[in-house]
Amino acid sequence: MKGVITVNNTKTLETERLILRKFNENDYVGMYENWASDENVTKYVSFNPHKDYNETKDILKEWINDYNNGSYNWVVELKENHEIIGNISVIEISKKHNNCEIGYVFGSRFWGNGYATESLRTVLEFLLKECDFHLVEAKHHASNPASGRVMKKAGMKKDGVLRERRKNKIINGYDDLVVYSIVKEDLNCC
Ligand SMILES: CC(C)(COP(=O)(O)OP(=O)(O)OC[C@H]1O[C@@H](n2cnc3c(N)ncnc32)[C@H](O)[C@@H]1OP(=O)(O)O)[C@@H](O)C(=O)NCCC(=O)NCCS
Repeated sequence: MKGVITVNNTKTLETERLILRKFNENDYVGMYENWASDENVTKYVSFNPHKDYNETKDILKEWINDYNNGSYNWVVELKENHEIIGNISVIEISKKHNNCEIGYVFGSRFWGNGYATESLRTVLEFLLKECDFHLVEAKHHASNPASGRVMKKAGMKKDGVLRERRKNKIINGYDDLVVYSIVKEDLNCC
């Protein structure tokens, strides 16, 4: 089966305005400043804001090492000035069912420009066509509708809602998780 664990899974991908490429060790400054330390960004994701450059540096070391194990993990770079603006990655793979889950995060300074949608579309196409995954899924907190909008605009379909599956970091309570997915055939219809 193609798609599951070869060492060069994070192939460089290009869109109209963006380059999606592997992280390198010098990316820690841009990653820390543009999204990893930003509280607006980390509200709905599993990590907390990084405290200093060293925290970002250490995580990047792990991620760069993970490329040897076939991880799919892109840093998103603006073509116009080479600034790095976010991260999109495969966060879970089921070899048995030939599917995977995708996650993404973009710096708040760059929101509302269509960059997340442009990145997601390209990565979905790569995973379904070139890597031959049967299905890709993504989940967002119900209180984070912008992410659901990105999934929909990228061609994903809503599967349903998982009730109160995540703790909400902002309020003392739980959030529903909304699940989206896309299969290869869906690519032809949008
Ligand atoms: C969610 C996120 C990736 C969106 O990135 P982005 O680059 O702004 O996304 P896009 O510009 O491609 O699209 C955003 C869409 O959401 C819409 N949107 C923004 N805020 C919204 C809200 N409160 N309710 C509904 N839609 C909203 C925008 O209008 C836009 O849709 P449109 O093009 O139809 O107008 C970004 O906000 C982010 O990184 N957030 C923090 C981390 C995160 O939530 N990651 C996803 C975890 S599942």
